[in-house]
Amino acid sequence: MAETLSLIRPDDWHVHLRDGDALAAVVPHTAAQFARAVVMPNLKPPVTTTAQALAYKQRIQAALPAGSLFQPLMTLYLTDHTPADEIHRAHDSGVVAVKLYPAGATTNSHAGVTAIKHTFKALEAMQALGMLLLVHGEVTSRDIDLFDREAVFIDKHLVPLRRDFPQLNIVFEHITTREAAQYVAQAGAHTAATITAHHLLFNRNALFLGGVRPHYYCLPVLKREIHRQALLQAAASGSNRFFLGTDSAPHATHLKEHASGCAGCYTALSALELYAQAFDSVNALDKLEGFASFHGPDFYGLPRNTERVVLKRQSWTLPESLPLGEASIKPLCGGETLAWQLQSN
Ligand code: NCD
Ligand code: ZN
Repeated sequence: MAETLSLIRPDDWHVHLRDGDALAAVVPHTAAQFARAVVMPNLKPPVTTTAQALAYKQRIQAALPAGSLFQPLMTLYLTDHTPADEIHRAHDSGVVAVKLYPAGATTNSHAGVTAIKHTFKALEAMQALGMLLLVHGEVTSRDIDLFDREAVFIDKHLVPLRRDFPQLNIVFEHITTREAAQYVAQAGAHTAATITAHHLLFNRNALFLGGVRPHYYCLPVLKREIHRQALLQAAASGSNRFFLGTDSAPHATHLKEHASGCAGCYTALSALELYAQAFDSVNALDKLEGFASFHGPDFYGLPRNTERVVLKRQSWTLPESLPLGEASIKPLCGGETLAWQLQSN
């Protein structure tokens, strides 16, 4: 049984870092684990322009611990009105991708896209420039069961989008279903997916074990065990279409433990440890490095990292709670013992 695991330093291809006090509290956790991270633009107000993305990048860099080499990779928030020239400006300024939130699908998505056809000018520009489209793949209509929203999105929106923009590089973000894993596996070289650690580790029972457990609530919501198994199989398959994206989404404890609790699991503090646990559970630790360190930069057309990190099989207990500005935050699995630990260097 492997006792240590040495990997090229991974990147996080989907993270929420927020802003202000929350940013200052969470960014050291991501920077301690990853070389780079794709930073989601769903701030209040959303990051819809290049100027906003560059200003946000500076705030992130200012919040990093002294000497950190961590690189934030910036994204724009797509709206019905994003002009093609904004896409060109973003591309020229090093923004790596554009995020499509269906309006109303998740946290801070009110300004999102109401119909994909409204974004065709932007998508044409992205396809021509080779800029990536990141998709929150859930339909929003209330008459579709919450647990079916991702699978319905594939048939209703992703298949037509793929047909209309065959060369556009699309990342289906935080996939949660067998349908999504199967779709991505056969969709060709321009389609990939991120998978979170929590969707690899937990099924929907985790939301209700012994009472409602709001820290396990995220969007897309955890699914049945057959879906978790399909995600594990995809992640551990070695296919370069699947890569690491934590979707670590910090919300203050009092907003999670609430009558209408916010969606999002906070995993940045122990992301690699959680992924190692998931891959270990299916004896696939040898597939972790490709998933965590190679497939993401290859799909984004960015260089792979060169330094290494080491994970040790050594149990440790995650803190139950951490400060988040004036508030607090509970990491997913807080207070529990994890089997792997990232060694600091
Ligand atoms: C994310 C957030 O809180 O910003 N929440 C979540 O449950 N994943 C938004 C998102 O990625 O859907
Ligand atoms: Zn997210």
